[in-house]
Amino acid sequence: MSKNILIFDTTLRDGEQSPGASLTVKEKIIIAEQLSKLGVDVIEAGFPIASPGDFEAVKKIAQTIEGPVICGLARAIDKDIDCCWEAVKYAKKPRIHTFIATSSIHRDEKLRKSKEEVIADAVQAVKRAKSYCDDVEFSPEDAGRTSLEYMCDVVSAVIAAGATTINIPDTVGYTEPEEFGNRIKTLFDKVPEAKNVVISVHCHNDLGNAVANSLAAVRQGATQVECCVNGIGERAGNASLEEVVMNLKTRKDFFDADTNINTKELFKTSKLVSNLTGLSISRNKAIVGLNAFAHEAGIHQHGVLQSKATYEIMNAEDVGWSGENIVIGKHSGKHAVMALLEEEGYSLTSEQNTQVTEKVKDLADKNKSVERDDVLAIAMDILGQLSETEQRIKLEGFTVTTGNGMTPTASVKLLINDQEKIGTGVGDGPIDALSKAVWSIVDPSVKLLEYNLKAITGGTDALADVSIKLKDINGKVFSGRAVHEDVIRAGLLAIISGLNRYMNAYNKGN
Ligand code: KIV
Ligand code: ZN
Repeated sequence: MSKNILIFDTTLRDGEQSPGASLTVKEKIIIAEQLSKLGVDVIEAGFPIASPGDFEAVKKIAQTIEGPVICGLARAIDKDIDCCWEAVKYAKKPRIHTFIATSSIHRDEKLRKSKEEVIADAVQAVKRAKSYCDDVEFSPEDAGRTSLEYMCDVVSAVIAAGATTINIPDTVGYTEPEEFGNRIKTLFDKVPEAKNVVISVHCHNDLGNAVANSLAAVRQGATQVECCVNGIGERAGNASLEEVVMNLKTRKDFFDADTNINTKELFKTSKLVSNLTGLSISRNKAIVGLNAFAHEAGIHQHGVLQSKATYEIMNAEDVGWSGENIVIGKHSGKHAVMALLEEEGYSLTSEQNTQVTEKVKDLADKNKSVERDDVLAIAMDILGQLSETEQRIKLEGFTVTTGNGMTPTASVKLLINDQEKIGTGVGDGPIDALSKAVWSIVDPSVKLLEYNLKAITGGTDALADVSIKLKDINGKVFSGRAVHEDVIRAGLLAIISGLNRYMNAYNKGN
């Protein structure tokens, strides 16, 4: 009988650590709902001690998402584990995932702890987690660069302490597939108790080996793979969920393994994560890139027309390229809008659906053409809206003048923590002038890193979708986004939304 490989999705934890990918609680819940539809076995919902927002998101996901195990991450420190439990305890199937670094470089340079001290901390952490819940995962961080002998000693000790899943991370994406596969083989050879727990792998993609390393580990007996949708994550990212799953499915003859993933949900999940994180997918990305099933060369097209199998090793339908069914027109009501959003993986609350429908109608009434991507952009705009208390900066008004032979000049009136401030600026264009006006009254240490403007559909009446990235002095990146028919207002609102996220992260006044 073929073995079952558990898919542990860490899009909302490691994936969210991608620079600029920070998601709101609402956005995380939407993604978690879609991950549950996709059939992942475990959702790592966040790192509860990291920030109040992370805690809130893990707690909300634990309270609302049914199906998968809901897991939170915790360092091997009592307060992390206690906090993690407070967030995941609401789940039907909660898990605490605790970790400590084991490689000599991390022990010596980061932790300044001996091998014995690290083992003692790991055992203590697992025991504390175990006092709260049965399902405890342990990771020796940077296992890929840890001596095999010591890694096996650590694993043996934490299994004895009660860990039920042992995850072997290649934290810095350093290993090669054969080498990583051998590491898993040695683990089974040297630690016989390993066969009584789930052996998991978590590979980063710094050398582009994350998927190959994960699959090499599966060949050697690992039965859980940790991965992220679209391969997002720290630095070069994590193993891509869709690539791991489709390798196992397409080459079942080779791996003799199944997953619980409904692969028909892959494309939709990928698009949803890309839209909400703002991390776009390259056209040639395996499985979910726009070119993944496109044939350009005449010889290929000819072959595919004769028989798809000549150049296609997977069916496009199997990953959910089904074509788009619902079309939104001027007279579409709430149900059509809801159906379209559901089709795209967005399960919105009734109130959010009403807001989207109203905006769609509002646009249609102004005689603007409303297309599928407009509806998605409006939905994302509504999902990304900050709560009243999170809106530390509010736009009160602005003016811009520009023209041939004139220097673009702007003034902006903002309410910053309930105090009215007026800024002015001149720039190379109207947006530049407005951004200078904003920066004349907000924290100058935070810089505008990126400004992207997209006209969603064709025509001069197209909705403008602006996404921006800001960077603070600690190198932390914050994104902002806004959608509006007025391109200048969209730009200004996007900057303000990024600044609000920055101020919320540090709980700042100005
Ligand atoms: O890459 C890593 O080592 C991690 C651990 C916390 C599992 O993300
Ligand atoms: Zn990681």
